[in-house]
Amino acid sequence: MDVDDIETIAVLGAGNMGHGIAEVAALAGFDVHLRDIKEEFVQKGYDQLEWSLNKLAEKEQIGEAEAEAALDRVTPIVDLEEAVEDADFVVEAVPEKMDIKKNVYRELEQHAPDEAVFATNTSSLSVTELSEVTDRPERFCGMHFFNPPVRMQLVEVISGAHTDPEVLDLTEDLAEAMGKTPVRVRKDSPGFIVNRVLVPLLNEAAWLVEDDVATIAEVDSTTKYDIGLPMGAFELADQVGVDVSYDVLDYMQGVLGDAYEPCPLLVEKVEAEKLGKKTGEGFYDYD
Ligand code: CAA
Repeated sequence: MDVDDIETIAVLGAGNMGHGIAEVAALAGFDVHLRDIKEEFVQKGYDQLEWSLNKLAEKEQIGEAEAEAALDRVTPIVDLEEAVEDADFVVEAVPEKMDIKKNVYRELEQHAPDEAVFATNTSSLSVTELSEVTDRPERFCGMHFFNPPVRMQLVEVISGAHTDPEVLDLTEDLAEAMGKTPVRVRKDSPGFIVNRVLVPLLNEAAWLVEDDVATIAEVDSTTKYDIGLPMGAFELADQVGVDVSYDVLDYMQGVLGDAYEPCPLLVEKVEAEKLGKKTGEGFYDYD
């Protein structure tokens, strides 16, 4: 399959990442099926996608006609079979839990065309392990976007142990067709490249506050103005979702060891469901 053969992309999961990936795909001219398990979830994702397109148009980063055309290319769907039965490429962006993702792939395998490629937007989980619950581990890879997808240039394209190199080439071509810059991750390893570097940084920032070395504001001004990140460490944790950072660390701790133990400050936020921008409160208040 060539990138020109891809017409329909199914995006599974309409959350923070899913709706953003759907937006990027629609802006690139693909027909997009945005799927989530409940009408309210898929509608929320669709509304966020529409908000984002309007915002880009307001700021003249895209034209109004372009925003409208992109929105027209997105179909919100709840039924999995309907979402994937004519998909050429499937990007899965469901919650960062191995069991949830595996169940989605088992069901997906029953309905997707044999030649469709499956790409997981996992932040850290084993691409190989996920691929092995399908009948097409060679047509399975990681395609990891960053939050917010419409603004972030990078896409990690991750090889599982069984991935056909042609599928990696195709996925990189697709990322480029979406206006992104792909980087290939040659070996399936927890957190891949970005999160292996970034999430421990967020965790260390939390330990500094936990240990009373500095306040959140002090850590954020340091990471932003001296280390040079576009956001402070805690602003970034709120942007990606405190739960996502926690899930990545928890998985990395299990595979790579206790150096990745999530700081109690992150655990407390997750337990209190103060997950960042998406819940209106995390380390900062967004209301
Ligand atoms: N669509 C459209 N507009 C959006 C938007 C979206 N999805 N998200 C934010 N905006 C808007 C805001 O509403 C705001 O609008 P107003 O100016 O009207 O208030 C505006 O964008 C802010 O944009 P600016 O250009 O003023 O701000 P900026 O130049 O600082 O850019 C940013 C914002 C691109 C998010 C930048 O801060 C940034 O790069 N932050 C770092 C993000 C990052 O590192 N993400 C990766 C995290 S790691 C990850 O995602 C991986 C994982 O698996 C955990």
